[in-house]
Amino acid sequence: MKIFLDTANIDEIREAAKTGILDGVTTNPSLIAKEGRAFEDVINEICSLVDGPISAEVVSTEAEGMVAEARHLAGIHENIVVKVPLTRDGIEAVSVVSQEGIQTNVTLCFSPLQAVLAAKAGATMISPFAGRLDDIGHDGMEICAEIVEIYENYGYATEVLAASIRSPKHVLDAALMGCDIATIPTRVFNSMFKHPLTDRGLAAFLADWENAGDAVTGAVPAGAAD
Ligand code: E4P
Repeated sequence: MKIFLDTANIDEIREAAKTGILDGVTTNPSLIAKEGRAFEDVINEICSLVDGPISAEVVSTEAEGMVAEARHLAGIHENIVVKVPLTRDGIEAVSVVSQEGIQTNVTLCFSPLQAVLAAKAGATMISPFAGRLDDIGHDGMEICAEIVEIYENYGYATEVLAASIRSPKHVLDAALMGCDIATIPTRVFNSMFKHPLTDRGLAAFLADWENAGDAVTGAVPAGAAD
């Protein structure tokens, strides 16, 4: 499963990229707005830090405007994936730009049937928002599983990108059900490295090493140089 970071914060992306396991980044207008910097500067900087798909979202609501924005955004960098909302106009726009080879991530998907529309329009990725579905009493990961199953049934090439991830359990579920990608907020990404047994085990290994004595650790015995 590919791991994307779901943020527009450059410091967070730079730090996560150091691990060498980051496959891409997703942004949205809210995440960009939080940074308080020019949209294209942020996107360019992200592209310079991560060599993988970088989602940048259109803000037009009509198909014609979305198509124009998509062409412009795709011209910024070869790794740009144009994020388009799952509206009727959005699907129309994706049908046009996917024919031109522009990569798209259809966002704000909340049902398996919406995901079918995105796949038929030639979307590169579909983003079901698991956490926001959970928030209103649905099972967000169940929707993701249904999309994975439908795409497998018909061999759709569109990748399933589990979005609106709120916990490591969401990431685990996405991996188990075969989502192609999970886009993960920094807080959850950082928590995935941690396990109390790893910390406890490492502390014990190091303490044992410290107490083992020179015969084990190979240190030069005191007085050997005399
Ligand atoms: C996806 O690409 C979106 O940016 C994101 O996952 C939305 O998550 P939220 O529901 O936590 O805002």
